[in-house]
Amino acid sequence: MKNEINVLVTGAAGQIGYALLPRLVSGEAFGPNTTVNLKLVEVPQVVDKLQGIIMELEDCGFSSLGTVEAYSDIFEAAHNVDWALLVGSIPRGITINGKKIEERGDLLRINGGIFTDQGKAIGENAKSDAKVLVVGNPANTNALIGMTHAKNPSQTWMAMTALDANRAKAQVSIKTGKAISKIKNMIIWGNHSPTMYPDLDNAYADGEIASTVINDDSWIEEDFLEIVQQRGKAIIDARGASSAASAANGAIDTVKQASNPTEEGNCFSAGILSDGSYGVPEGLIFGYPLKTTREGKIEIIQGLELNNYAKQKLNITISELQEEKEAVKDLI
Ligand code: NAD
Ligand code: LMR
Repeated sequence: MKNEINVLVTGAAGQIGYALLPRLVSGEAFGPNTTVNLKLVEVPQVVDKLQGIIMELEDCGFSSLGTVEAYSDIFEAAHNVDWALLVGSIPRGITINGKKIEERGDLLRINGGIFTDQGKAIGENAKSDAKVLVVGNPANTNALIGMTHAKNPSQTWMAMTALDANRAKAQVSIKTGKAISKIKNMIIWGNHSPTMYPDLDNAYADGEIASTVINDDSWIEEDFLEIVQQRGKAIIDARGASSAASAANGAIDTVKQASNPTEEGNCFSAGILSDGSYGVPEGLIFGYPLKTTREGKIEIIQGLELNNYAKQKLNITISELQEEKEAVKDLI
């Protein structure tokens, strides 16, 4: 018998949406035996454009495609949803009122407000065990705003850092010559921003500690960190638009990782509500090493070692998230 799953996607007519939707219904994300019903959400001015992607999804002929509905009202769309992928929001790199938006944090006041109603709608109308992934930037603090308004602790709110983890794995694979499938336990601590800390002392390259295999501290502390932390900007500069294919891929990876038990010795990366683990103050959406249990619960992996260098890096990203939280205190 086929299972059914209801998946809400906001910003469905945007760049990431275009790369994401076919992969949600191709059988890849939820498995070939699950029918995926899509609830696509856009702003009223754009919602009619969704008919184009709906026709294209039909024309792909995926046997996992269920119903597809277009909405401009998030409260209607969120009804009975198992997964919500909150992509809809403005990317950086564009100019608003004559000012170019340079940093993801500059989007806080522009995008933050979107997540109050979206949180409320999901908290009230989505399933009690719904999983929510915030992609729209600044993802961690937007997720905090959404989760606060959802007021539904049995739902799981995450902010996307899988793309950062994939970027970090790719750089380690290039540097070491090890296959990317052999790079494991890649943790992105903290914020999806230039303060994130991709941790090579807890990552593995073909079964050995990645930083030991690389054996080049100046490459790790300067080149590697800079490349991963600034990769989003590098793509905007090169492409004239923010990452879309790799961002959609990060969202698909998170869906798969959060839907299937995590293998021993591995983790997946996403921002989740801090509970004090690893000395991070409670009440931030913080990038942690996560695992999915056999029962489908998402838990923070405990007991990893952090050296003084890592602790310093964590303090920087903690401070930034505290500042972001302070800047939107009227929204939470
Ligand atoms: P885009 O401008 O191409 O598309 C965004 C879409 O969202 C637009 O179609 C817009 O109409 C829609 N939208 C805006 N407000 C909405 C609302 N209230 N409800 C529903 N839809 C709404 O942008 P994009 O390239 O798809 O990027 C989307 C977001 O994802 C940006 O904030 C970007 O910075 C972020 N992003 C995050 C990551 C990550 O790793 N976390 C990676 C890449 C991009
Ligand atoms: C990314 O990391 O590619 C996205 O967050 C887009 C951006 O603004 O960098």
